[in-house]
Amino acid sequence: MISLSNFDSADGSFATDNDFLAEVILGLSGAVKSLPCKYFYDEVGSKLFDSICESPEYYPTRTELKLMKDVAPEIANAIGSNVDLIEYGSGASKKIRYVLDALEMPASYVAVDISRNFLMKASRSVAQDYPGIAVHAVCADFTKPFDLPKGLGIRSRRSVGYFPGSTIGNFTRPEAKEFLKACVETLGPGGGMLVGVDLKKDPMTLEAAYNDAAGVTKAFNLNILSHINRELSGNFDLQSFGHVAFYNKELGRIEMHLESFKKQSVTVSGIEFCFGPGERIHTESSYKYDIDEFQTLALSAGFVPSKVWTDSNKLFSVHFLQI
Ligand code: AVJ
Repeated sequence: MISLSNFDSADGSFATDNDFLAEVILGLSGAVKSLPCKYFYDEVGSKLFDSICESPEYYPTRTELKLMKDVAPEIANAIGSNVDLIEYGSGASKKIRYVLDALEMPASYVAVDISRNFLMKASRSVAQDYPGIAVHAVCADFTKPFDLPKGLGIRSRRSVGYFPGSTIGNFTRPEAKEFLKACVETLGPGGGMLVGVDLKKDPMTLEAAYNDAAGVTKAFNLNILSHINRELSGNFDLQSFGHVAFYNKELGRIEMHLESFKKQSVTVSGIEFCFGPGERIHTESSYKYDIDEFQTLALSAGFVPSKVWTDSNKLFSVHFLQI
């Protein structure tokens, strides 16, 4: 059984189309140019992200998947039974299957994602494979308040959030705290949250993960410009921007940028933006956390850190937080 929320309107436009233009204009108008990384994920971008996950250099997905598989019974034990599982940024809904397989009688699975068609396909397939679970697909930008499907959170159940993939790393530390606070509000007393967090490690390993030799990450980064070209009538020339990714040790984050090879001007929905040679657009930050550091953050947001699992190479962590 599957229900859809916010897939609205006859013209196929989705609630955040206007936000897209406004945020692009805002980001490209500043003294330092930036674009919100959530706009990587149109259909092409979501597919490119899936191929990043298969690249040999990008260790997080592989490591998290294996870890989830290895500790699924312990995770299921921590989560308990009869829960509504809410996944923030469900993507291909791959990792949740380990949780669903191990859980005793989950009541429902709510997949929240910004990429509509991708979300539809992924949640349909979960509904098919888990006929005993009510599947809800909510097309929403989870960085903003959104409505959960009606009927969730009835009193006999608990709500457990799932935020895998170290997507939390895309927030700045203060933003991550605000996001976790909002989750405490949404999930409510007795609830919990399972969060996948990439760990700090040697810069070589980190930098290789964002500069794969096959150039998939480069294509993913550049696709944000194609996304703008396609949906906001932009005329970015993809040949004249380069992919830059490095670890900023002071800030504990990977930064991705798109660098203009030359002086050029670009228009987006009729608005002109000028780039100097070497000028960059900051497209993504991916913050890395030590275990203690993340637990302190979670605590400050109103969660009680309860369990943490890591792989044997200490590359990745999965935290269970309680409310
Ligand atoms: C999905 C946000 C966790 O930051 O590592 C992968 C996205 N960007 N390669 C990350 C990403 C470049 C990824 N997250």
